[in-house]
Amino acid sequence: MGQLGDVISAQQFEREMIDKIFQTAREMEEQGASEVLRGKIMASLFYEPSTRTRLSFESAMLRLGGSVITTENAKQFSSKSKGESLEDSIRVISGYCDVIVLRYNKEGGAQRAASHAMVPIVNAGDGVGQHPTQALLDLYTIQKSFGDISGLKIAMVGDLANGRTVHSLVYFLAKHFPDNEIIFVSPTQVRMKDDIKQYLDKHGVHWREDVSLDKSISKADVFYQTCVQKERFEEDNAAYLKVMEASRELFITSKMADCMKKTSIIMHPLPRNEEIAYSVDDNMRAKYFEQSQNGLYIRMALLKMILS
Ligand code: CP
Repeated sequence: MGQLGDVISAQQFEREMIDKIFQTAREMEEQGASEVLRGKIMASLFYEPSTRTRLSFESAMLRLGGSVITTENAKQFSSKSKGESLEDSIRVISGYCDVIVLRYNKEGGAQRAASHAMVPIVNAGDGVGQHPTQALLDLYTIQKSFGDISGLKIAMVGDLANGRTVHSLVYFLAKHFPDNEIIFVSPTQVRMKDDIKQYLDKHGVHWREDVSLDKSISKADVFYQTCVQKERFEEDNAAYLKVMEASRELFITSKMADCMKKTSIIMHPLPRNEEIAYSVDDNMRAKYFEQSQNGLYIRMALLKMILS
């Protein structure tokens, strides 16, 4: 057994473990490739599309000398298309590998998988639930930018009801970095979920809600932008269009970026649609590509700590 087992939710982590993951990620960043996971096999099983999470996990495993077996588009190309349950698939795949990285289309999928797996499960996003490895790389990016994750005003912007990355990030911040102010900026239809706000209250975190960026633009240190999760509106296109319309004033333009503090950073888990203008990419505050690069180091660290 490694230092880490299943990675299912943000709440499972203790502060000491987060620090160890960041330390190992820094080592990965400095040392680059190694053979530490030679002979180990990672299965990536994705029931929803992904560019960054799947490919960065696969790249991480290969850079550590391990091997990868994969089913992208598992809904269509695995035996799910013949009616096989997640539980049966996981039992079978467990016998072929040493760790399973799973993206599932329904909340709770990773926990269900962990209950039936013989190897560790890593939650790579479960419906509108959580995306803990994304939140770890988000925190790592904030720490690299500011040194300390403390005393910051963090604006989370966009579809906060359906964005699993913000859910995990808030849980981490509440439990381990409560000395920050969180501002939820979203259209009213997609506000942050009440249970997460209650979790913030329980941990004494100062937070507020807004429908506009006007009050935050010159004050926030971190702008964590997210897109409207179109796949969560599959059965109600009219609702999706309404949310898109209401979101437009939250889209970050170069002019808005120039009104931010010089030290502010703009983050996005990506993929982006229209919520950050391409012209912002050259702004010194734009961190989103560095953020997604950090995903490689964090995922190398996680795999090393799970498998060695
Ligand atoms: N941020 C993120 O989860 O991206 P992918 O959907 O491309 O994996």
